[in-house]
Parts: sequence; structure tokens; C-alpha cells
Amino acid sequence: MRILLLGNGGREHAFAWKLSQSPACEALFIAPGNAGTLLHGTNLAIQPTDFPAVKTAVLDHHIDLVICGPEDPLVHGIQDFFAQDAELQSVLFFGPSQAAAQLEGSKAYAKVFMEEQGIPTADYREFSLDQLEDGLHYLATLTPPIVLKADGLAAGKGVVILDNVQEAQVELRAMLAGKFGQASATVVVEEFLSGIEFSVFAFTDGQDYKILPVAKDYKRIGEGDTGLNTGGMGSVSHPPFVDAAMMRKVEDRIIRPTIEGLRLRNLTYRGVVFFGLISVAGEPFVIEYNCRMGDPETQSVFPRLKNDLVELCRATAAGELAGVEIQIDERAVASIILVAGGYPGNYERGLEITGINEVQDSLVFYAGVRTDGDRLLTNGGRVLAVTSYGDTFQEALAISRKNAEKIHFKGVNFRRDIGFDL
Ligand code: AMP
Ligand code: GLY
Repeated sequence: MRILLLGNGGREHAFAWKLSQSPACEALFIAPGNAGTLLHGTNLAIQPTDFPAVKTAVLDHHIDLVICGPEDPLVHGIQDFFAQDAELQSVLFFGPSQAAAQLEGSKAYAKVFMEEQGIPTADYREFSLDQLEDGLHYLATLTPPIVLKADGLAAGKGVVILDNVQEAQVELRAMLAGKFGQASATVVVEEFLSGIEFSVFAFTDGQDYKILPVAKDYKRIGEGDTGLNTGGMGSVSHPPFVDAAMMRKVEDRIIRPTIEGLRLRNLTYRGVVFFGLISVAGEPFVIEYNCRMGDPETQSVFPRLKNDLVELCRATAAGELAGVEIQIDERAVASIILVAGGYPGNYERGLEITGINEVQDSLVFYAGVRTDGDRLLTNGGRVLAVTSYGDTFQEALAISRKNAEKIHFKGVNFRRDIGFDL
């Protein structure tokens, strides 16, 4: 197969690494890719949201299968663009339709969907600007912490959790007034759930589904889960608290009713559903849906997946998942993310990265990394992932920590406590 992968993060490096191992991978192109995807294929200087440019690349390079890494093109309808174009209809596409991608693209849509399917999630109300007064009164009836969520995509920044009613009222006013632009024209106010979060991924062709290895990610910048939220500072697979009994509940109460809900609504979904879950006293609830793989979960999930990823994505996109069996490496995998000094606030780019050649027994997945001749330079806040196997996740983390210490760039920062709560 000739494959085009869309995206440029650490997730996409992990995709490229895994896809390129398949004997079925005849050619791999990545748009736009990064210095890591370049090790496994050909980067194309195209933005995934530029659909006409993606089309030209697909035709020029005789692509058979397109895999969409990030959510943005999906929420903007790239799958529909392919389905409606006479020259692209025969190209297999991994990723849901625009209507189905609303599970991630609109929190209000996802809430109604879950309510109708009887899927456990936090109680909520939604408010638009003309309901501001109702919203302010409603907030006054709540016991903090109070969770406010911008309805639409807000680059991971649209969730605000507040410790008192007055602050929540100020925030609701600001959000409805356009703090996150159109994304916060509607705001979901949610019951706060207290528990431990984990990430479950299911490939689906809209009929069948297959569950990938489970992961847990660490979003806060500081050790002990303190400080600002980031794109993700580390991940482990498998988190031990997610036992077989928990997975049965997840499958019965969440995964199956979700796939059933897609089917009932005739939504075209050939891709991955990412269930952001929380265990509250041993019972799973959905915090959010995403219509793509997680980052940095993918960096820990794909190394445990024994299946041929080309075949798995092809079968998903072709509606042929029924016969597929997922095979999982029993070892633990852990990833530590090296970030730029100052991230998630302001940080420098273009800093030289050294020491990657000294890494032993770990995989290194690049995120914000670009090449400059023979040199590697930082090109983002999250720079790279150091990923290791172990008999236990503690052992995997110890190897990742040891190797993370060998990689240098000015201001480099990483968390040494990933997995501390497991
Ligand atoms: P989301 O973008 O919906 O995943 O929210 C970002 C983060 O906010 C989640 O990973 C949780 O840590 C937190 N969060 C979201 N919703 C809730 C909730 N109802 N209760 C507690 N924490 C939440
Ligand atoms: N790691 C969470 C996400 O990808 O949204």
C-alpha cells in the first residue's frame, strides 16, 4: 500500500515508525511530518487542513490509504471531502466523517449522545450567550469545584476548573463573550468527578470495534501533577488499576453503546474512538471523546501492539475489522516527554539537541524537532518522547529516565515522577 499520514507530532512519529515496519507498506508520505517521520518516509510540505493540497498529493503519489493523525482536519470534514470527490472516492480513509467527529468537536453534542445512549458521564447543563442569566443562577446552586468547558475545539485549553462560584461566574461570562472565539459560544457546565483518569482506544469501522492497549497520560507540567496543563508529559501502558473487571465495565457500559450509537445514527466512523475515562470509586465515566489517537499515549500504546498497523488501518478504513484479532505485547511500556524550558508558557525554538545517539534500550519519538543539515533543533514545546519496555511500568520508567538524562538542549525539562500515583 502507498500511504499518506497527516500530522506532525510525536503521535505521528509513532504511527510512521509502526507503519513502516509492515511488509505491506510500499511507500509512506507524511504531511507535513517532522524530523522523526522523516526517518521512516517522505515528508511533504502540506498542511492537513488544506484539503485541495492533500488531494493533489494523493493523486501525484498514487496513495491507496490516508490516515489522519490530528482532530482538526476531521472536525473540518476531510473525510467527507474524500467521500464526495470523484477522484478520491476509491482512496481508503482512516478517520471519521465530520458529523461523527462532533463527538470531539462539540462537547454539547457528545453530552447529548451519551445521555441518549445511557453512557455514564458527569451531569451537565449547556448555556449560550442568550442564556447567560440562567447560567449565572445555575452556577450559584453548585458546590465547587465547578467545571466549565468550551463547546468547540480550543487546542486543549477549553476546560476550566474553578474553586468558587464567583470565579466560575466571571469565567462563564468571559467564555460566552468569546474568550475561545466561536468555540465558547456554547459552554457546558459539568459536575466535577473525582478519581483517576485513563485512556482507552478502540478502532472501529462503524460495525465492529477492536480495543487497543490501555494507557494513562500525565497532563500537568509539575511533579505530583501540579501546575499548568500541557499537551502531555508522559504516559504508561498498562496502568495496573485498570483490571479485567474494570475493562468489562468499560466495554459493556461505554464502548459498545458508543459504537451502537454511531450505527443507530448512520454516522460514518472508520477510525479510532479515544475514550478519555475516569474511574470514580471503581466505576468508569466518560470525561471526553476524541476522534483520533492520544498524544503521548500513542507513543506507549503502539509499541505494545503486535498487529501489522498497515493491515489494521486498512481493515478499519475498508470496513473489514470483523475478522481482525488484536495482539498485545505483555510487557509494560512507558514514555517520558522532554519539553522546552518555559513550556507550556513561552519558550525558545531552534535549540540544538544532542545525546540522542547515546540512548540505549529506548525508542525516541520526535515531536517538535526539525533538522538543520546534520543537526537536530527544537521546534516546539513538546520536543521528544523517550519510550521503553519493562517487565513492570516502574522498570520501563527507570530506563526512560536514565536515557532522558543523556539528551540535552538548553532548558530541557521533564517529569521524573511519571507513574507516581499508580
Ligand atoms: P477534557 O478536554 O474534556 O479532557 O478536559 C481536560 C481535563 O480536565 C481532563 O483530562 C480532566 O483532568 C479535567 N476534567 C474534565 N472534565 C472533568 C470533570 N467533569 N471532572 C473532573 N475533571 C474534569
Ligand atoms: N493525551 C491526551 C490527548 O491526546 O488529548
